[in-house]
Amino acid sequence: MLELQNIKPEPITKGDASWYKPLFAACFCKEDPWLEMLGDDKYEGFHMNRQAFVFISAVDDSTDILTIGVYPEHRKKGLAKSLCEWVLNKAPIGHSFFLEVECTNVVAINLYIKLGFQEISRRRGYYPQPVGYALDAVVMRYKKEF
Ligand SMILES: CC(C)(COP(=O)(O)OP(=O)(O)OC[C@H]1O[C@@H](n2cnc3c(N)ncnc32)[C@H](O)[C@@H]1OP(=O)(O)O)[C@@H](O)C(=O)NCCC(=O)NCCS
Repeated sequence: MLELQNIKPEPITKGDASWYKPLFAACFCKEDPWLEMLGDDKYEGFHMNRQAFVFISAVDDSTDILTIGVYPEHRKKGLAKSLCEWVLNKAPIGHSFFLEVECTNVVAINLYIKLGFQEISRRRGYYPQPVGYALDAVVMRYKKEF
């Protein structure tokens, strides 16, 4: 079994479509919109062992966490937390991170709270649903203080 401390985050490139696209689909049941963005300098993607991924977009002193996912069979082993901590640790003091998360996604919200993110606002009806009302987005922020 792989030990978490032995898995180093690595960059995702456009050439990684063959393993990355199935990973994204396993997490979100839809096609990935992020890989194509990698041509633009402000977008970056990272993975751990092809089991977990994160995409970010950085401008000046703030970074948006755009998406994160882990293969269902590899969840609850600390992969997402470890990958996010690595991203947060790369930034200088004073840097801010922002993200939006569906208000019903308790697992992801727990992860972000554990990392030190705090809710700063809500976007009402941000995520349309196939049936019923659109769900709110919880907007969260983490400021690197030390
Ligand atoms: C959200 C997701 C990325 C978490 O990945 P993960 O590798 O399983 O998370 P970790 O093992 O690093 O867990 C970190 C923390 O998240 C929270 N968490 C993880 N799984 C949880 C669960 N099933 N129930 C409640 N909280 C959970 C806990 O706070 C956990 O810390 P703890 O283990 O010390 O209690 C993963 O569930 C996923 O891919 N979900 C589908 C895609 C998604 O919703 N992405 C987020 C979009 S904003």
